[in-house]
Amino acid sequence: MKISILGSTGSIGRQAVEVIQKMPDYFDIVSICGGDNIDELRKQIKILNPENVCVKSQQNALLLKKEFPKLNVLYGDEGLIEVASDKTNERILVSVSGKTGLKPTLAAIENKIDVALANKETLVMAGDIVMAKAKENGVKILPVDSEHGAIHQCLSNREEVEKLIITASGGPFRNKTIDDIKNATVEETLHHPRWNMGKKITIDSATLMNKGLEVIEAHHLFNMPYEKIQVVVHPQSIVHSAVEYVDGSVIAQLGFPSMHIPIQYTLTYPHRYEGIETRNFDFIKAGRLDFEAPDLEKFPCLKLAFEAGKQGGTLPAVMNAANEEAVFMFLNGKISLWEIYEITKKIMSEHNNILNPSLEQILEQDKIAREKTKNQLLNK
Ligand SMILES: NC(=O)c1ccc[n+]([C@@H]2O[C@H](COP(=O)([O-])OP(=O)(O)OC[C@H]3O[C@@H](n4cnc5c(N)ncnc54)[C@H](OP(=O)(O)O)[C@@H]3O)[C@@H](O)[C@H]2O)c1
Repeated sequence: MKISILGSTGSIGRQAVEVIQKMPDYFDIVSICGGDNIDELRKQIKILNPENVCVKSQQNALLLKKEFPKLNVLYGDEGLIEVASDKTNERILVSVSGKTGLKPTLAAIENKIDVALANKETLVMAGDIVMAKAKENGVKILPVDSEHGAIHQCLSNREEVEKLIITASGGPFRNKTIDDIKNATVEETLHHPRWNMGKKITIDSATLMNKGLEVIEAHHLFNMPYEKIQVVVHPQSIVHSAVEYVDGSVIAQLGFPSMHIPIQYTLTYPHRYEGIETRNFDFIKAGRLDFEAPDLEKFPCLKLAFEAGKQGGTLPAVMNAANEEAVFMFLNGKISLWEIYEITKKIMSEHNNILNPSLEQILEQDKIAREKTKNQLLNK
């Protein structure tokens, strides 16, 4: 399988490299792309021997070209699009974070290349456009998110589905009070009880905005109305998600929490192989499985995402942009965790929604929402 990884230096990207190292005969690496972490890229170039590499800045591209003269080195957003459009690829993994994933994903689809999609922001921003283009080009969008990977495996006949059940670990503040959440430090918020992920998604997991983004992602991936998507808190993260059918049967996908498994599944789909994960699932070791409703008072970002998704148009992209900028502001110590919600809500309420938007309109509203979010600091 000829593949490329966009975001190979991140949490998902590095785990994908581990999966690939375990199956060297199966994969042939065309390109790898990172942002600023060129030390990690140097290591990966030596391990994977790709034909092309892409980095964020021209300066780092020149550095790598000097060190690896035979390598084709690209840079910037244009470089990512070139990598994603390369028809040598049979599949690409899009595991860059944030809005950077959207254009390369569309470029791959237009070139009829299947996409293993970790970057949920792509579908939150422009799910209607992306899924319509994928259908038009006969391209598979294989979800890397463990919840959507689970639903993908449990879903057979869509007409017979009663609802999709997306599980959530509940994050680090599940048992905390609203006051604890309002006063949470960056360090406490980054301490996720189950998953080791990049910083942005870890903060989103603490506010449950991540689950909200996943609800919108599920709506687009599985063409399911929001009324048929339920979020259930499941602290053990063993049941990765489930599908309930009209006859009352529920089919769930289970396993110990590990991103290696869903990453590998999207890279080898429709086949399954023994991989890097060595722990066999054991019901007895897993012990009890608990489920509870999400607390929307403590985690109002989840409510915001349902609202944005139901309204559609440019609102989900605006919510995503405001949230992303607010998360960076929190990580930089400029605002509190709770203000991520307050600012995102404000930016959403000020937005004049555009229904059935073009890609250009989405990107324009994304830009405006980001500027407005950053301006909130000036007004403080
Ligand atoms: N982590 C998980 O378990 C998980 C699970 C499900 C879904 N996801 C989704 O997968 C995506 C990645 O998550 P992550 O946790 O792996 O994030 P991460 O650790 O922060 O990694 C992000 C990757 O994107 C690269 N990147 C960021 N901005 C870039 C830019 N402008 N140009 C080129 N590359 C850029 C980074 O490069 P440098 O580090 O080199 O700067 C890094 O390789 C997110 O959309 C997330 O929601 C993650």
